[in-house]
Amino acid sequence: MPLNFSDRTAWNHSQNALTQALESKRREQIPVIDLTVSNPTLCEFDYTKNPLFQNLNDTQNKIYQPNPQGLLAAREAVARYYADKNIEVSPGQIFLTSSTSEAYTYLFRLLGNVGDKILAPSPGYPLFDTLAELNDLSIQKYALCYEKTWRLDDQSLANFSEIRPKALIWVNPNNPTGNFASADEREILNHFSLQNSCPLIIDEVFLDFCWEGGAKAKSFAGNKKSLTFTLSGISKILGLPQMKLSWIVVSGPQEAAAEACRRLEVIADAHLSVGTPVQHALPGWLENRKVVISEILSRVQKNYFELLKITAPHAKVKVLNASGGWYAALKIDGIQDEKFGVRLLKEKNVLVHPGYLFDFDEEDVIVVSLLLPGEQFTRGICRVME
Ligand SMILES: Cc1ncc(COP(=O)(O)O)c(C=O)c1O
Repeated sequence: MPLNFSDRTAWNHSQNALTQALESKRREQIPVIDLTVSNPTLCEFDYTKNPLFQNLNDTQNKIYQPNPQGLLAAREAVARYYADKNIEVSPGQIFLTSSTSEAYTYLFRLLGNVGDKILAPSPGYPLFDTLAELNDLSIQKYALCYEKTWRLDDQSLANFSEIRPKALIWVNPNNPTGNFASADEREILNHFSLQNSCPLIIDEVFLDFCWEGGAKAKSFAGNKKSLTFTLSGISKILGLPQMKLSWIVVSGPQEAAAEACRRLEVIADAHLSVGTPVQHALPGWLENRKVVISEILSRVQKNYFELLKITAPHAKVKVLNASGGWYAALKIDGIQDEKFGVRLLKEKNVLVHPGYLFDFDEEDVIVVSLLLPGEQFTRGICRVME
C-alpha cells in the first residue's frame, strides 16, 4: 500500500541552481563568504558578556511545574523588558513559546479556519508562506513601496478588505527592508484592523536593532486600539536562537484580548513547549541584554555604513534605505537576481540571497546579511562590486 502523506506536505524538493552551486562548493571544500548568514552564534560575537551557562545551572530546574503561559518569573522579566520601553504589559498578557515560528502557529490556529487568508508584507520574510500552509491557511501579500524609503502602500492594503483576512502581519522593522512603522502607518493598520475585524500580528524580533537612534523603534505591545499580538524573542534580542524562547503579548480592547487569552491558554496548554531551564534563565539574560544588543547593533550598523561607502562609487548599485534590522537590500541595474547570485557564487565564492526569495517585484535586487564580522563582510561586498 502506498503511504498516504498529507497534501500540505507535497513539496517540490528539487534544488534550485543556487543551492546546486553551493553544494558543489561544499563538496570541493572551497571556502565561501556567506552573506546570507542569519545565525548570530556563527558570527564571532562575544558571548562571555552574558552569563549564559551560569544561568542555566539553577537548582529549580529539577522541578517540573508547568504553566500554559510560561513560568511567572519569566513572564515578569518580559514585562520588565517592555516597562523599560515605557510600555505597561502585565504577565497575564504574555504567552511564552519555543520560537517565534511557533508563536505564529499558535496564532494561526487561534484565528484561522481551513482556507482562510492572512495578510503579510511584500517584500517580506519568506517563512510566512510555509507557516500558513502548514496551518491550512494562505498568505496574501500587501505591498510596501519604495520612494527614498520604504512605506506601506495603503491602497494595496485597502484592496484586501473584500477577502475577509483573518490577521494582518506587520514586521517592525521589516525583514529584509528594515523599515519601522511610522505614526501614520500605525493609524492605517489599526483602522484596517477595526474595519475588517482583522487582528494585528506584529513581529518585533528586530525591534532593538535600529541604527537611527532608536526613536523609530516603538513597540506595538501597548496597542489597545485593536486586537494585537506582538511577537518577539531571544533569538534576535539576545542572539540566542539555540535557546528557543519567544513570546506573544496580547493587547487590545479588553473583551477581545481576554477572550483571545482564554483560547490561547488552551493551545499553549496542549503544547507546554518551552523548557524549564531556559525560563529560569531568562530574567538574568534579559537583565544583561543591553550589552548583547549593543554589540550586535554596532556590527550591523557599521556594516550597513561600510556597504554605503563601498557601493557609493558604483553608479549601477543602490543600497535601499533601511533604518534597522540585520539585512540590506541592494538594487543592481541590469542584473537578474538568481543568475547573478549563481555567477557570484561560482566565480567569486560569495553567497547572497536573490531578491525573489523575499518577493521583491524587481529582478535586480539582492539581499545581504549585515551580521558577518567586519573584515569578512567588507571582503564579500568588494567581491560583489567586482
Ligand atoms: C521577521 C522574522 N520573524 C521571525 C523569525 C524567526 O524567529 P525565531 O528564531 O524566534 O523563530 C525570523 C528569523 O529570521 C524573522 O526574520
